[in-house]
Amino acid sequence: EKGGYPHFMLKEIHEQQAALQATIGPRIKNGLPDLSECGLTDEYLKGLTGIHIVGCGTAMHAGMVGRTAIEKMARLPAFTQIASEFRYSDPILHPGDLVVIISQSGETLDTLAALKLAREKGAKTLAVVNVVGSSIARAADWTLYTHAGPEIAVASTKAYSVQLAVMYLLALRLALARGALDEHEVGYLTEQLQKAPALQQPLLKNCDQIQYLASQFMNSTDLFFMGRGFDYSLSLEGSLKLKEISYVHSEAYAAGELKHGTISLVTEGTPVIALATQDDVFEKTLSNVKEVKTRGARVILLCKEEAVVPEGAADYVVRLPRLESVFMPLLMIVPLQLFAYYMSVLRGCDVDKPRNLAKSVTVE
Ligand code: M6R
Repeated sequence: EKGGYPHFMLKEIHEQQAALQATIGPRIKNGLPDLSECGLTDEYLKGLTGIHIVGCGTAMHAGMVGRTAIEKMARLPAFTQIASEFRYSDPILHPGDLVVIISQSGETLDTLAALKLAREKGAKTLAVVNVVGSSIARAADWTLYTHAGPEIAVASTKAYSVQLAVMYLLALRLALARGALDEHEVGYLTEQLQKAPALQQPLLKNCDQIQYLASQFMNSTDLFFMGRGFDYSLSLEGSLKLKEISYVHSEAYAAGELKHGTISLVTEGTPVIALATQDDVFEKTLSNVKEVKTRGARVILLCKEEAVVPEGAADYVVRLPRLESVFMPLLMIVPLQLFAYYMSVLRGCDVDKPRNLAKSVTVE
């Protein structure tokens, strides 16, 4: 049932491409994203005043990418909140706000409670869910299913990618409905989004490089991830995955925040994984890399294939295929998942069933 893979997690990492195609493909009509299947109309999207995105763990990290995409492309204020915080924060929701609830299982207790609270407060809710007919899917006003298929490994991989895909489709449709981008612009971006699944292929083939990097860092006790914008959200996800399955402590930092405290922890040999896929802040992140290198950090830099990286700027460079910056999270996630996977394997951990964790958290 693992299809020849040693672990479900590795199998599911490799299933991402197909899952993305299944999630994106049927929702493109005449070259533009179409979400009418669930009943969301342009008329409604046009009148929105804000979007609140809520979830736990990996789903919440997908929401962060969604937030940035919505703000960048649709110019609509968007906020993210952890479900267990949202439900006890007496959230301020305006009548024109939409609450987007993200969950793979559709059964996470805090997320379901957040959904119910949003409805009680009179907000409309959109669920982005993988499991058909789950509690969250049934309780929301609208549901957009992610088509990842069953995810067995406790660490979420393919479900994250497809959550990103749905959030991108939503951001693009919103941009169109609100006139923030014209049809031509949305058409071009939709084409770029459709390219992402195939561009994951070379990264999946690149397992050897990532396995090698994991072997270089397998004995680390603390590791730092850093990045800006989308890369910061991906840092959080890369760090969560690593902690969850390899039990290595790590922290994710917005690259510009390092000098406000954390850089004091960086000394000779400290491992730092720097994410730098966003053209507009590439140089800024590179200067943060320089700061940690100066203090002796061992740096893995992940960047676009065409990025100009000065000689000696990083110890290792992982290059990602060329794609519009806004969609780079769909490519970046692959090496981050593989890194956590190989760290877990090399350290002899139970990859698919890490200690103390359950696939679906149905208790508080
Ligand atoms: O089923 P859900 O998407 O609601 O689950 C949310 C989190 O429990 C989940 O993403 C968790 O963080 C994963 N184990 C991370 O890999």
